[in-house]
Amino acid sequence: MFYVSTPIYYVNDAPHLGHAYTTVAGDVLTRWHRQRGEQVWFLTGTDEHGQKIMRTAEANGVTPQEWADKLVEEAWKPLWRHLEIANDDFIRTTEKRHTERVQEFVQDLYDKGEIYKGGYEGPYCVGCEEFKTPGELLEGDLCPIHKRPVEWLREDNYFFKLSEYGERLLDFYEANPGFIQPASARNEVVQFVRQGLQDLSISRSTFDWGIPIPWDDKHVIYVWVDALLNYATAVGYGSDPARFEQIWPANVHLVGKDILRFHAVIWPAMLMANGLPVPGKVFANGWLMVGGEKMSKSNLTGISPQQLTAHFGVDAYRYYFLRAIPFGQDGSFSWEDFAARYTSELANDFGNLASRVAAMVGKYFDGELPAAAVREEAVAAALAEAVAKADKAIGDDLDFVGGLGAIFDFVRLVNGYLSEQEPWKVAKDTSDEGRAKLATILYTAAESLRAVAVLLNPVMPATAEKLWASLGAEEHLGALAEQRVSEAGQWGRLPAGSRIVKGEILFPRLESAE
Ligand code: MSP
Repeated sequence: MFYVSTPIYYVNDAPHLGHAYTTVAGDVLTRWHRQRGEQVWFLTGTDEHGQKIMRTAEANGVTPQEWADKLVEEAWKPLWRHLEIANDDFIRTTEKRHTERVQEFVQDLYDKGEIYKGGYEGPYCVGCEEFKTPGELLEGDLCPIHKRPVEWLREDNYFFKLSEYGERLLDFYEANPGFIQPASARNEVVQFVRQGLQDLSISRSTFDWGIPIPWDDKHVIYVWVDALLNYATAVGYGSDPARFEQIWPANVHLVGKDILRFHAVIWPAMLMANGLPVPGKVFANGWLMVGGEKMSKSNLTGISPQQLTAHFGVDAYRYYFLRAIPFGQDGSFSWEDFAARYTSELANDFGNLASRVAAMVGKYFDGELPAAAVREEAVAAALAEAVAKADKAIGDDLDFVGGLGAIFDFVRLVNGYLSEQEPWKVAKDTSDEGRAKLATILYTAAESLRAVAVLLNPVMPATAEKLWASLGAEEHLGALAEQRVSEAGQWGRLPAGSRIVKGEILFPRLESAE
């Protein structure tokens, strides 16, 4: 089972572009693997405990549970539906299936002697829900991520013996060089662990919005320990051993780079402590930036995912961020860049190709795809190469820029082929030879589009579906979702005789935006 997770998002506010970035990446990755014919599990959800949510609820005059229910139903789930996110499950940390299993997990660690009682004081950032070390604070005792003052927290807490896992973690990173990606993220974590780990405070007693510690209900479980466990509780940990065995460990945890250490240090140590297998990969994506800062609630620039999809459409939205920003690096959103890529790559290179080919098959062959007289080896070879590149880039390396680049290079190659062959001129030659040549050109272009529809389906499912319909492919090849990546590059799958229709324009001209 290929199991991918997104972070579970805090419900203190509605989702913004940064959250959607990680979730769309996970959706494309899992759709790609489904199209490889693999069994896939894609999990997302919400992180609902802790001080941050509690304070937001208080400020809004409702209980934290009421607040979370409202945000989940009115903001988070609707956005994922809108963006065509095909998650298999949605876990909320206030659900019983989660809270009870978290208590069991922590009790297990306690019984194993991995947890002890102690005291702790230090600067705490509620935005991060994390104790900071004095050394990492900015001038004026500001959190380096939130740029807001930290609070001084002193508590009697329970501690997990994280400090005992440094060596084991370093050995593990060494033996599994692909565990943390990209390389810059891996280096940062290795450095951090080499400096020595401190034990981790895993309980809070100054507020109560959390899961009670089972042996001492004056404490609630630290929100990060609670949250990380979602990846296990959602797939049957402690409740359905057969299912858990089948799905666990996760293949890929997608995380923002801000929460890398939790996933690459604390989480594997927790699993090791409990004798559970460690995930295959933690991939840290970069930040979407606004004015040189991480995009967050306070600096949103007022642009919501829904505003962008209203202007560009859902599919172009799904495409743009993955195409424009190398996965793992920071990037800025720019309305101008989005519009430029929409017009040149989606509308001109891709959309026009699809409509021109359909129009010509309509005009010269009454909409019935002719058989090619010869096989255009150069185009067929370019397709096979594009499929191989895209499959490795997207499916294995999470290099979306590279994978989409390979697919669009192929689209441009087909455009070049048409300009060179000039079918509109060949059409004037009504001899048998002329007709055969015209048939070859149009078959070659349509067959190329057949493959492009398959390759773009994980990224732009609605558009790919329109193209599939316009090629009349379903009748002969079956549903688009059933097409395999391994077959995409096999030349000649779309049979002569397919009914080609000029469907709606794939990427209409943009309205001018204010
Ligand atoms: N609740 C924790 C995660 C627990 S996972 C066991 C959390 N939530 S969050 O809502 O604050 O952010 C979650 C994730 O959203 C980030 O790590 C990242 O994946 C994504 N992003 C939030 N802002 C982002 C950007 N500006 N840019 C890119 N991704 C961002 O942390």
